[in-house]
Amino acid sequence: MTRRSLALEKLDEFHRRYEEDPWCLHWRGVEQVRHAHVLSVLGTLDLSGSTNTISTLDVGCSRGDFSGKLHNLTGEVTAVDVSQTAVDIATSRYNLDGLVFISQTIPGSSLARGVYDLATCLEVIYYLQEKDRNKFIFEISELLRPGGTILITSLVGGAPYFQPQELQTLVEQSFEEPFMICYGWSMFQQFEQNLFRLYWRLNLAHHYTSGDNGDRDEVTPNSSTTESLAKHLLVNLGKMPVFGWLLRASLVTFSSTVKVLLIWQGPGRLAHRFARLLRLTPSHTIIVARKSPDPADK
Ligand SMILES: C[S@@+](CC[C@H](N)C(=O)[O-])C[C@H]1O[C@@H](n2cnc3c(N)ncnc32)[C@H](O)[C@@H]1O
Repeated sequence: MTRRSLALEKLDEFHRRYEEDPWCLHWRGVEQVRHAHVLSVLGTLDLSGSTNTISTLDVGCSRGDFSGKLHNLTGEVTAVDVSQTAVDIATSRYNLDGLVFISQTIPGSSLARGVYDLATCLEVIYYLQEKDRNKFIFEISELLRPGGTILITSLVGGAPYFQPQELQTLVEQSFEEPFMICYGWSMFQQFEQNLFRLYWRLNLAHHYTSGDNGDRDEVTPNSSTTESLAKHLLVNLGKMPVFGWLLRASLVTFSSTVKVLLIWQGPGRLAHRFARLLRLTPSHTIIVARKSPDPADK
């Protein structure tokens, strides 16, 4: 995930520029483990809907990677994203009964109120400005049927991200009985993220050298700062296919290693105890909470 929060209006541009997959959600080990972990949490919940399927709203679906997996579990998913580009790509990637992608922004959506059994919001809330975050949670509670469930996740960190307790406090304002699960190890996450950033820079360099000037400002050495010189260096390295190939190969290898390590860990397992001993902090928070079953109770 990007470290800085992107303004909402920039998100469509971001998806257009990196339409091949802005966060590499389909192959980064940490992202796949993240999806698998959330699905395993969902698998433990009683989500029974009014019919055989569980009417689910996936907020901030991007190119649909998680929504597709969610659809296997619940059978009915409305996936929304602020970016029309992301929605168009997702629609062209998935053609499944009961899975629809719609461009909508929350808060402020025109979706039907009180109909969903479950809402998932993975790694979305920190894109909103602080003043809109309460409204976001409140609108999701309005979209859910009485007794419906929200599952929301965020990277753990300083602003714009959340400390686990901060996210729980936010959710508590519109939902009952929230419970919190923290997982992942920030050390692995950080290491992988640094490699990913390098890969990302190379991608920018590739766009630049292949005539797409969209990122010219970001890679042209227009001052003598170390950062701009480093970018310039990467532009030139980006011209060497072997370097790019090696970097990608090492990222994929590292990413798979992290995946194995994260899957290996688990409550009570040796890796988990070892991490506690080293005081490694979790990288992600998941909050699950219920909307009051009483329709009169807001
Ligand atoms: C980091 S991606 C997460 C993708 C997916 N949920 C996952 O975790 O794999 C965040 C997505 O949220 C979307 N988004 C951000 N703010 C939003 C909002 N207020 N309403 C709808 N979508 C939003 C962005 O366009 C982006 O596609």
